[in-house]
Amino acid sequence: MAKDKGIEKFVRPDLVNFGGYAASTSPDTLEGKVDVPVEGIIKLDANENPYGCSPRVQRALAKYSYYHIYPDSGQTELRKLLQGYTGVGAEHIVASGGSDQLIDLVLRLFVEPGDEVITCVPTFAMFRFYNELCGGVSVDVPRDENFIVNMDAVRAAITKKTKIIMLATPDNPTGTIIPRRDILSILETGLPVVVDEAYYEFSGETVAPLVGKYENLMVFRTFSKWAGLAGLRIGYGIFPIKIADCLMRIKPPYNITMASLVAVKESLKDVDYLKGKVKEIIAERERLFAKLKKLGWIKPYPSQANFILCAVLKGQASELQQKLQKKGILVRYFDKPLLKNSIRISVGKPEHTDAVIKALKEIEARG
Ligand SMILES: Cc1ncc(COP(=O)(O)O)c(C=O)c1O
Repeated sequence: MAKDKGIEKFVRPDLVNFGGYAASTSPDTLEGKVDVPVEGIIKLDANENPYGCSPRVQRALAKYSYYHIYPDSGQTELRKLLQGYTGVGAEHIVASGGSDQLIDLVLRLFVEPGDEVITCVPTFAMFRFYNELCGGVSVDVPRDENFIVNMDAVRAAITKKTKIIMLATPDNPTGTIIPRRDILSILETGLPVVVDEAYYEFSGETVAPLVGKYENLMVFRTFSKWAGLAGLRIGYGIFPIKIADCLMRIKPPYNITMASLVAVKESLKDVDYLKGKVKEIIAERERLFAKLKKLGWIKPYPSQANFILCAVLKGQASELQQKLQKKGILVRYFDKPLLKNSIRISVGKPEHTDAVIKALKEIEARG
């Protein structure tokens, strides 16, 4: 037994040095490290909803008294509710602990070690994360300079080993959408295609109604963004019935908490309120975009989601992120070959936009 290798030698060799996911920062962890009290931190680094959830959710959760009972593993009521919201039959729907869990389950269902998964980079990092956990190989198809997906390049990347094509629309972190005709052209390949619509309520574009027509189409959605329920972890997917059945069998039995069920029920009774907030966020996105553009040294990219990706034209994005954090404003930064020197700012309330712009101006003035 190698003395210096301890328990590690039992770990899968491909996972010993697994890179993990750089998650967003929890404000609590910044206590005493930033120039503002924790309550004053403006969190624009995870595309959360600045208005929070529906007040109905808060009230119903406080009143609910069956937290000691396991939830229905078959998600009967929840799937019916989601049928009402999506217009797609309950038998096509599977709910999950955040849509992250769907990425995990779907890749586990399809990907064996050595299989290839096509993604259009830059894109949501969790596609690669879960694929690598399955021992899959990520085949990255680069987007063009405006982050538009090149469908010919996607088709050219298909090999005998391709198991699934992962598309996000709107994409995170780029904010771009994939036109419907392009999605249809990829569906024609016959390969399993995931269309991650985590930001659908902001873009208004969906292919969900096509799931009954294409037996290779899977659509992912979430309550994290539009409904302000990121902390409760509720997502769902719309699948061909055979795939929904498989997923229902491989998912953890009680993956949706009672609190989540209550929250979905109340959110769906308050869709008008929540959609009103979505409208406000969209209007604020356009105001933030215009103000960022005016700065001259930040290049914002048009977005159909609730965040804006920006190229930093002067100085280092990593330093800018740190300086903003010191002032109590959290944003994401990226510096990868296909996403150089960039930050992503989630859209907040109007006062958050004002604070970001003020901070950016101060940072620039100090050089
Ligand atoms: C494209 C995309 N898909 C899925 C998710 C996961 O969302 P959740 O697990 O909170 O439902 C996110 C979150 O940022 C995302 O940007």
